Amino acid sequence: MLPTRLVATPPVIDLLSPVSFADGQPHEQFRWLRENDPVHWHEEPGGGPGFWAVTRHEDVRRVGRDPVSFSSEPTILIPDDSGIDMGGHRMMLMMDPPTHTGYRHLVIPDFLPRAVKEMIPRIDALATAIIDDVITRGECDLVEEVAGLMPSYVIAEMLGIPRSDGVELYRLTETIHAAPESQPPGAGIQAVASMFSYAHQVWEEKRSRPADDLASRLAHGEVEGRPLDEIDFNLFFLLLVDAGGDTTRNLVAAGTLALLEHPAQLESLRSDLDGSLDSAVEELLRWVSPVIYMRRTATADLTIGHTEVSAGDKVVMYYGSANRDESAFTNPDRLDIHRRPNDHVAFGGGGPHFCLGARIGRAEIRSVMTEVLTRLVDLEPAGPVEWLPSNFISGPKHLPVRFRPGAPSLG
Ligand code: HEM
Repeated sequence: MLPTRLVATPPVIDLLSPVSFADGQPHEQFRWLRENDPVHWHEEPGGGPGFWAVTRHEDVRRVGRDPVSFSSEPTILIPDDSGIDMGGHRMMLMMDPPTHTGYRHLVIPDFLPRAVKEMIPRIDALATAIIDDVITRGECDLVEEVAGLMPSYVIAEMLGIPRSDGVELYRLTETIHAAPESQPPGAGIQAVASMFSYAHQVWEEKRSRPADDLASRLAHGEVEGRPLDEIDFNLFFLLLVDAGGDTTRNLVAAGTLALLEHPAQLESLRSDLDGSLDSAVEELLRWVSPVIYMRRTATADLTIGHTEVSAGDKVVMYYGSANRDESAFTNPDRLDIHRRPNDHVAFGGGGPHFCLGARIGRAEIRSVMTEVLTRLVDLEPAGPVEWLPSNFISGPKHLPVRFRPGAPSLG
């Protein structure tokens, strides 16, 4: 007899098709891979050379922490042509040290604990205002009208642009991330062009009238003694708007959904929000893993686990799989808001690209979740959940909910 966990017939492994992600992460595929083929050779229909899918926690951390063996250049997406080619310029996310280090240092001050602590009262006020806008209606789309607004407002405030523009820019990032087959031809490129056209106006504005904001610091920034030019600025702008937007949104939306699907956990969290919120947020990060993967490129012939990888091969870290690895987590398929320790890799495996916005993201998530859990009484799903058609970012596209209509705050 076969051990119960060993699947006799392997599931169809397809980590490229958005269909595999149509109900969230493909945990059945990931489990099979971790147990049977943890560094799996994955074909790339459509002309790509193929890639290694790395699914175990230990291996994901190893790849993420070793930028010498695993380069972020030319791109961290699977298709080679996905890095935006701008005459030798690239996004910080797609650079290796030491160049990456210089770029990261430029923006680090805005993400340090003190800076984030100072932002918390603003973030709390935004969360209150977001809930005020929906609470009287007794229903809303939790993705569009609650979870998505917070990160777009926060990044707009950090960059020093109007909040309403943050919401518009953030819509563009959704188009940039969506699978090409799910939208009209050229929509992704058009969205990038619109983003850069907006960034151009911000560049002009902050060059001539600098203020105390992140965009002004970038517009006047220097790396290795060289001033940033407009293309550097545009790429930084895109990265900042992009990186914190649908990641945070998806965590809040999919995390709330997970709690609604686990009423005992929800009840336990509500009964001791102050004591449990921090560990609950970490558990929801592990559970949801909003970023599905990051790719690296092997710089030499080497082995990952028992698998030989050649120089030039694409190596793809699947965070959602690592976060359900039985050798790293006890009962990984159990949502446990009190889980400790919780060494999840939702923000990356811990290397030089470890999420710069992790502290801000956590602060946003805590504020919104607090408002949702304390003020939206009798919260429940009010219709089918539609997931994003993407093999890169996981989360619901729409999450209709209803709740007992309440009064706006007095603030
Ligand atoms: C739940 C929310 C978030 C998740 C799950 C998330 C996840 C990630 C991941 C997986 C990476 C790549 C790590 C690596 O390659 O090792 C990353 C990088 C990054 N994130 Fe986040 N992120 C979140 C929120 C944010 C926020 C709110 C911001 C900004 C306000 C942000 C800014 C960035 C930036 C700038 C990078 C690139 C860092 C670099 O290349 O050095 N992220 N994030």
